[in-house]
Amino acid sequence: MKNSDQLRLEIMQLTKEYYHAKKHEDSIDVNRNQRIHYAGRVYDDNEIVNLMDASLEFWLTSGKYTKQFEKQFARFLNVKHCYTCNSGSSANLLAFMALTSPLLKEKRILPGDEVITVAAGFPTTVAPIIQYGAVPVFVDITIPQYNIDCTQLDKALTHKTKAVMIAHTLGNPFNLGELKQWCQKHRLWLVEDNCDALGSEYYIDGEWKLTGTIGDIGTSSFYPPHHMTMGEGGAVYTNNHLLAKIILSLRDWGRDCYCPSGIDNTCCNRFNGQHGQLPFGYDHKYVYSHFGYNLKITDLQAAIGCAQLDKLEYFIKARIDNWNYLKNRLDPMSNVLVLPEPSENSKPSWFGFLIGVKEDAGFTRDDIVSYLEEHHVQTRMLFAGNLIMHPCFDEMRNEQTGYRQIGNLVNTNFAMNQSFWVGVYPGMTQEMLDYMIACIKQFVNIAMAEDSL
Ligand SMILES: Cc1ncc(COP(=O)(O)O)c(C=O)c1O
Repeated sequence: MKNSDQLRLEIMQLTKEYYHAKKHEDSIDVNRNQRIHYAGRVYDDNEIVNLMDASLEFWLTSGKYTKQFEKQFARFLNVKHCYTCNSGSSANLLAFMALTSPLLKEKRILPGDEVITVAAGFPTTVAPIIQYGAVPVFVDITIPQYNIDCTQLDKALTHKTKAVMIAHTLGNPFNLGELKQWCQKHRLWLVEDNCDALGSEYYIDGEWKLTGTIGDIGTSSFYPPHHMTMGEGGAVYTNNHLLAKIILSLRDWGRDCYCPSGIDNTCCNRFNGQHGQLPFGYDHKYVYSHFGYNLKITDLQAAIGCAQLDKLEYFIKARIDNWNYLKNRLDPMSNVLVLPEPSENSKPSWFGFLIGVKEDAGFTRDDIVSYLEEHHVQTRMLFAGNLIMHPCFDEMRNEQTGYRQIGNLVNTNFAMNQSFWVGVYPGMTQEMLDYMIACIKQFVNIAMAEDSL
């Protein structure tokens, strides 16, 4: 009978063979009218081999791969602390809730306090603010960066403002230089939702830094369309020791203990401490300093993440190249289309290519989106468009409570009504990009010919 090592080797060999056979069967051909997705997993046999290894190990919960991933991801980002969690939304929840911890004393966010954000984005950047009973204050964005309009910040500020929490829209960094300075001046927290911007860089304090590492806390998502994937997954990172301690506690049931899964007595004081009003020496493993969650990942997810990390530099470069390819070739249509622009002082690692339709284009966003979808090009909206218009806001909107907005959010409404985006993910071949460009050109030519009749 073969021993477990021999069997493992055979399984790994077969796994690689399986991957190559499947890849061959799945290859996309635009001439066969196959759909061009806006995003997708890009992987090779290494991800599946790692996954297989983690499943044979059968540790299941966070383990050696999680530890390895957190260490390598922190090194990539150049941050002191990085914790994985089960989604980008959970990462945002942890980031926000960390700022409500009593350990932060007078800097903690209390229910009723205000947090400056934008409505043109993903709902779970804002959801934790509302769930906790704090008040989101929506500021408009600038076009064509689709990021917060910093000229509106002073209008949004009140004595209740405690933080700014926003995303780098589709990879395009928001004005970190100005915003960070403004937050420091007013003693506000800055949370960077970096879920769509992994690898984006920003020039600040005389050097290029990765987005997500410039504010107080950064978050990532590893859902498949993102820059890298674990299936489901996320991460929270910070250089602040106290925030790191709070994030870890909140992620792991709210406990005070910081032992990894399966380990006891890391602090060497397991039965030797006074905690709250518990009897002296109560088991530190079961002492709770926060009302927490359990948002850990499994080692199977982390195993995939480790293999993806090896490809991250390539993923980022491919996204930038694809975005530039689209931008150069769509430029002649800027008389009718609003094309995206990188923010000043930034090198974006793009999540998508966002296109606006000009007011007087002679066609609408919905016209061009229908045409592209009919021609097998998948499109996406800028997520919520204007979050305030959604059913989840009905009650608050009708009663005009629980949030504030600064001005009439004209550009946010432009994003909702007149923009859409297409993909730039590393799985896009030149053939696919050329096909998308040809479709957009064809549509514009037809629309303009009809308009001139
Ligand atoms: C900006 C932004 N933040 C947060 C999220 C949530 O990430 P997840 O889907 O992993 O929960 C997304 C999702 O795509 C996103 O685009």
